[in-house]
Amino acid sequence: MGKKESIGIGLMGLGVVGSGVAQTLREKSIAIAQQVGCPLEIKGILVRDPSKKRAIDIPHSLMTTDPLRILNDPDVDIVIEVIGGETEAFRFIKGAIAKGKHVVTANKEVISKHSSELFELAGKHRVDIRYEASVGGGIPLIAPFKRDLLANNILAIHAIINGTTNYILTRMAKDGLDFDTALKQAQKLGYAEPDPANDIEGVDAAYKLAILATLAFRTEIHPEDIHYEGISRLTARDFRYAREFGYAIKLLAIAKKEKRSIQVRVHPAFVPEDLLLANVDGVFNAIQVEGDLVGRVIFYGRGAGSSPTASAIAADVIQLAQNIRLGLRPKPHMKLLKTKRLTPMSQIRTRYYMRLTVVDSPGVLAKISKILGDHAISIASVIQKETDEKTGTAEIVIMTHPAQESALQKALQKTSRLKVVKEIGNFIRVED
Ligand code: NAP
Ligand code: HSE
Repeated sequence: MGKKESIGIGLMGLGVVGSGVAQTLREKSIAIAQQVGCPLEIKGILVRDPSKKRAIDIPHSLMTTDPLRILNDPDVDIVIEVIGGETEAFRFIKGAIAKGKHVVTANKEVISKHSSELFELAGKHRVDIRYEASVGGGIPLIAPFKRDLLANNILAIHAIINGTTNYILTRMAKDGLDFDTALKQAQKLGYAEPDPANDIEGVDAAYKLAILATLAFRTEIHPEDIHYEGISRLTARDFRYAREFGYAIKLLAIAKKEKRSIQVRVHPAFVPEDLLLANVDGVFNAIQVEGDLVGRVIFYGRGAGSSPTASAIAADVIQLAQNIRLGLRPKPHMKLLKTKRLTPMSQIRTRYYMRLTVVDSPGVLAKISKILGDHAISIASVIQKETDEKTGTAEIVIMTHPAQESALQKALQKTSRLKVVKEIGNFIRVED
């Protein structure tokens, strides 16, 4: 069979990411054709509402609301899925693979939940599925894990992998913006998921961590394996105290290989101000990886937004198109262990920040210290703040030495039952 004269693209989705992809393929068409050896041609674009005003001028004739127009088109070689969500995207991706089409997707939900089924199906139909844009927007991550870090035993990942929450935390900490205003800005800039609760509650970061941890530990890690918490319980007071203690607050995604198990968690954390991760601001993401050979490497860049995400998708498309042109078969996907041992959240050890509102009277601190002591939690420092003369309450902020999570949770429960404790304002883990 002769070489193809052009590579057909079916684009599913023309929102923030889809528009960026369509624009990139159009504006860089000559350079891309030179790299591939023939032009790429968009054959159809799936949308929900063709009459909607778009960020990019697209011939109306290319748009369709019928996925079969793309899936059944024999001239479509590569399907780009950027509609998001789980059910339909999963169905369309499977449909594309079953029709012998290669797939490029930015969908972390589908990949983190269904990659083994998709890779098996792709192997059966001898097509490839690429997902560089699913984690870290424009930051190269999937390819380095699949190739450049292969000789390493990966020991740990500490990452900021959600642009929306990092944008919100930065604007709250640095500009004193309130949560809702910062979220609205992140949505306007195209960073947030259609349902921003996925960003805010740590779900999106958990999907991404599942993808990275799977590659890093060559073990199937699913979103349900990951303990996740979001940023909604953080207040301006927490940011102020964090600064006083010399920390930034970040939504961290952490994966660690321990002696016999794997630890995977997503939650807000105090990060020492002098660490690089503490200084990753706005939509930027950073993924710090520790390997036994390479030591520490850090991947840094824009984690969301139209152009950075289009950069990752277009690269996947170009590589697939090159392979199609050269008649190369897809490489088999990484062999993964299915059995795994996960460290229960109750067994992790970190330091903790605790903020409590208490009755401003003698002996209160002694009562709290006793409960902490009874649970083998030792206090590193305490500050008393904000005496409110009207209510007769004060705010106490405690930093602990490393302690076990289960002990801290029990101690918090007991402390909350003390008559002198009016409220447990917050507790945040400290990642030194
Ligand atoms: P978006 O702006 O909401 O765009 C979604 C697009 O898909 C819209 O064009 C929509 O059509 C179309 N669509 C949705 N459901 C459809 C359906 N059932 N049938 C036909 N068309 C459908 O979303 P996005 O921000 O581009 O995100 C897309 C994907 O990329 C998601 O998986 C997201 O997690 C991922 N991602 C996003 C970013 C980012 O910065 N935004 C970065 C990395 C990865 P209409 O326009 O007609 O409504
Ligand atoms: N909503 C995601 C984020 C998009 O804010 O990081 C990029 O995956």
